[in-house]
Amino acid sequence: MCGIVGYIGHRPAVPILLNGLKRLEYRGYDSAGVAVLRNGQIEVRRKAGKLRVLIEEVARNPLEGMVGIAHTRWATHGEPIDRNAHPHVNPHRTLAVVHNGIVENFLALREELESEGVTFASDTDTEVIVHLIDRHMQAGRSLVEAAREALRMLKGSNAIVVLSAQEPDKLITARLGNAGGIVIGHGEDGEMFVASDLPAILEHTRRVTFLEPGQMAVVTREGAQVFTLEGEPVAVEITTVPWDITAAEKGPYKHFMLKEIFEQPRALMDTIAGRVDFRTGEIAFSTLPLTSEQARSISKIHMTACGTAYHTTLVGKVLVERLARIPVETMIASEFRYADPIVDESMVVLAVSQSGETADTLAAMHEGKQKGATLWSIVNVIGSQAMRIADGYISMQVGPEISVASTKAYTAPLVDLYMLAVQLGFLRGRITPEERLELVEHLQYVPGWVEQVLSRAEAIHQVAFKYRHMRHCFYLGRGINMATAYEGALKLKEISYIHAEGYPAGEMKHGPIALLDEDMPVIAVIPQDPWYEKMLSQVEQAKSRGAPVIAVATEGDERIADLADEVFWIPKVPWMLSPVVAIVPLQLFAYYIAAELGLDVDQPRNLAKSVTVE
Ligand code: AGP
Repeated sequence: MCGIVGYIGHRPAVPILLNGLKRLEYRGYDSAGVAVLRNGQIEVRRKAGKLRVLIEEVARNPLEGMVGIAHTRWATHGEPIDRNAHPHVNPHRTLAVVHNGIVENFLALREELESEGVTFASDTDTEVIVHLIDRHMQAGRSLVEAAREALRMLKGSNAIVVLSAQEPDKLITARLGNAGGIVIGHGEDGEMFVASDLPAILEHTRRVTFLEPGQMAVVTREGAQVFTLEGEPVAVEITTVPWDITAAEKGPYKHFMLKEIFEQPRALMDTIAGRVDFRTGEIAFSTLPLTSEQARSISKIHMTACGTAYHTTLVGKVLVERLARIPVETMIASEFRYADPIVDESMVVLAVSQSGETADTLAAMHEGKQKGATLWSIVNVIGSQAMRIADGYISMQVGPEISVASTKAYTAPLVDLYMLAVQLGFLRGRITPEERLELVEHLQYVPGWVEQVLSRAEAIHQVAFKYRHMRHCFYLGRGINMATAYEGALKLKEISYIHAEGYPAGEMKHGPIALLDEDMPVIAVIPQDPWYEKMLSQVEQAKSRGAPVIAVATEGDERIADLADEVFWIPKVPWMLSPVVAIVPLQLFAYYIAAELGLDVDQPRNLAKSVTVE
């Protein structure tokens, strides 16, 4: 994942910046760079590979200056090579920019700039930001005005820091959306820091300001001024970070679960970054390299996991079967280990696990190994057993998940499974390069779609408040979103202790419909997917039995607006990615109910984050 560090003060900037990058190394990256300002000149060093390659480069060609910015990059637009590493500069080297996120309208902006005669030196989306600011400054605007104008032109979730030789005593930073955070550190004696994450600056200061989405700041040696993107000043709130780093990481959120729900745009961006190239459609998992021959030789995939992780496999099955035409069987890991499953050398056993230490999941992997299968895993915790014993793995890249109720470690593997399904389909000749490019292109909008749902959190909170005393409810879904219903129900029951049953909607008529009445709310997951019409008739049936209906539906769906009592709206998204977006309102719904009931959201009774016993 990308990391950002910035410094302005009276000490040499480079050691501070490189040290800050080291503190962010754990998040992963494929190239790194640093830019400093000296005597009216911006100097840059950028290198593909590990940070030590950059450090060696800086040792060979030293940089000096007391203002600078630095970055670790995961590639999204353009391969991980020196010229695509950040910081990016304008041709006169008067501006440098580092950036986390995806500029969704990058192609349109690049074409516009190229038609004006701008030449691009990299393949990145970031470079458009440099040229946009440059264009406004050349038109006579100040750095702040030029940056504001440029930022307002960007679509997507982005975090940015800008350095300018023309206005050398300031850094401009901004946070657009939730995909990249920005924290400003207030040091002593005229020193200020900027970073994407707290660990990068905590050794220098514990007095920090977190930028909210849609805010930008001007950081000078004297302090920081914060503005909205419309230029309205915002009061600067300085928080003193406690010494307990875990508590510090909670930031302004009341619970880790809420923080982790809101971290999803960023987690999803990090999931995508480094794996796909939006320009070519190529997908690569460095820890799960696959040849066409290998992909073609797979006769079946057994997906196995527990709880929330198991629900990801239900989505994975639909995706892999549709896109790659490989038969997929899903089985709860605690069953798989004792089921004497039919597994042989031509098959893959794919385990999904946040912790990578879940006893049942590990036992299922051992069962698969013994029977000669190839073992794959999708895991969050680096170095965990599920990662180590696998023949190949995909790391979730969502950062630590503290709350027992899993949220970002649900949506990220959904995207991993989507990318894996697309890649398997491509390698098996089921998907053309053009189709792959189109499927990959959709991924760049995923963080933004989740962001849109999060922006409606307060409306979901109000519905949660209204329903907080219910004792039972059904979550219904079909097809690819059957898993969304299961997962929504699991979220509610595990943290609110309300009995919630996730059910395939088509099965209701075979028994459970007898339970429906005005005291049994139905939460219907009904986005615009191929199962929409079928779901609609289930909603009608629930309504006709008096059950209150809360729907998760696509914006503009008037039929649902008329039918349901409450609607959690989600943006229109391709159906194969709809589970990633449709679960988010249900995570928030569960969270707000538990929080309103005053329960211990992050540590629910009887549960552990990692279940390492049978
Ligand atoms: C869900 O919120 C739970 N935390 C639980 O179902 C969890 O997903 C399950 O125990 C599996 O854990 P793992 O992903 O660490 O293997």
